Amino acid sequence: MSRTKILYQCQSCGHAAPKWLGKCPDCGAWNSFVEEERIAKVKRQKTAEPVALSEISPSSDSRTSTGILELDRTLGGGVVMGSVVLVGGDPGIGKSTLVLQSLNGLTRLGKVLYVSGEESPEQVKLRAERLGIASDKIILLPETSLEGIISVAQEINPRVIIIDSIQTTFSLELPSAPGSVSQIRECATKLMFHAKKHAVPLFIIGHVTKEGAIAGPKVLEHIVDTVLYFEGDRGSPFRILRAVKNRFGPANEIGVFEMMESGLKEVDNPSHIFLSERPVNVPGSVVTVSLEGTRPLLVEIQALVTSSSFGVPRRTGLGVDYNRINLLIAVLDKRVGMHLGGMDIFVNVVGGLRIDEPAIDMGIIAAIASSFRNNTVGAGTFTFGEVGLSGEVRAVGQAETRIKEAAKLGFKKGIVPVNNSQKFEGNNIDIIGVKNVEEAIEILFY
Ligand code: TYD
Ligand code: MG
Repeated sequence: MSRTKILYQCQSCGHAAPKWLGKCPDCGAWNSFVEEERIAKVKRQKTAEPVALSEISPSSDSRTSTGILELDRTLGGGVVMGSVVLVGGDPGIGKSTLVLQSLNGLTRLGKVLYVSGEESPEQVKLRAERLGIASDKIILLPETSLEGIISVAQEINPRVIIIDSIQTTFSLELPSAPGSVSQIRECATKLMFHAKKHAVPLFIIGHVTKEGAIAGPKVLEHIVDTVLYFEGDRGSPFRILRAVKNRFGPANEIGVFEMMESGLKEVDNPSHIFLSERPVNVPGSVVTVSLEGTRPLLVEIQALVTSSSFGVPRRTGLGVDYNRINLLIAVLDKRVGMHLGGMDIFVNVVGGLRIDEPAIDMGIIAAIASSFRNNTVGAGTFTFGEVGLSGEVRAVGQAETRIKEAAKLGFKKGIVPVNNSQKFEGNNIDIIGVKNVEEAIEILFY
């Protein structure tokens, strides 16, 4: 027995309310409520048997390579059978291209069902030809109805399913429009059941809307096993694939790609690329080491400090947290005595990268100090470390990995937290441990 119920649902976060609301109490979005019909299933029955944990014999999680190392790494070492992977990103960033390219590896599993609700089979064929993907195991299905997709999947029994995109997929059972929260949730859940039951990997492509969430959005993150976001500047050819959630591997792992005429090309040494255009001996440019997942990444941080022509000085951060910059400026002012009060300060992470890790604090501090003093930091010097409010430089995780990566790229001198420095003394790289920001600045500039 089932009955239907009308409710209003926020299209950006999925919050449901019995009445229409102008502003979502959950995510704060305005005018985001849409009337939806919910079918409440009242019937209950036992569907699963309880099992003791000790009695479960784990099937070794067999992984299949996609043929793209950077994608495999982001997935935690390849695709797991029966796993559901959400690939999110701005329209036009390269999601379809990435998934299409991975088919060269995935067709080894057997038939691949590529459901394209956005492009015609001819368009997909043209692109596949350009990317050099040719296999008679790829079955294209220009279908948007969920029921149609599932029935084809049951009929041809593919070993991999790709849905491009979830926003164009809709269930005939629901009255709401394609792309609405309930449609997206329903379609993803039904597809997931199919994937789990038949142990086929399922890739779901989802577009991110202006607000920064996949439309009908975040609602999918808890349903799927792995969430990959494809990021990057439209202006730059570099793309970063980031694992935001992964039930089968470390989260925050990244893969780096370059968009070329012939599709996405893997970048196996991203630090090299991010540093390749670094101006040598210019004030305001400092190299720091960030850790993305398990991978150390050397990045250049640039700062520009100029005297402000307005009453309220501007502080801008690209790729770094704005509040963090303000905090670090306050530390420099109070603990080192740098008078930055009347200065406009701009900080930028080169290469369109976004870094949230506090380990780059020292990089930001050094870049600001370097620009303010018009003093350069040596080309072979790097620094990392978290900075506290009393100006202390705190130890960060995996210092050894970071230092090794810097050494590999030819850096000669590192200014690091004192608690991270001990075991590296006597290496061919000169590691100097510092206790606080004042000490670090002294070593950097004298
Ligand atoms: P696409 O994969 O269609 O993006 P999405 O599926 O995320 O919407 O990528 C489209 C962009 O990629 C488009 O602007 C053109 C560019 N592109 C290349 O530069 N080279 C290529 O070989 C391909 C296939 C696409
Ligand atoms: Mg696409």
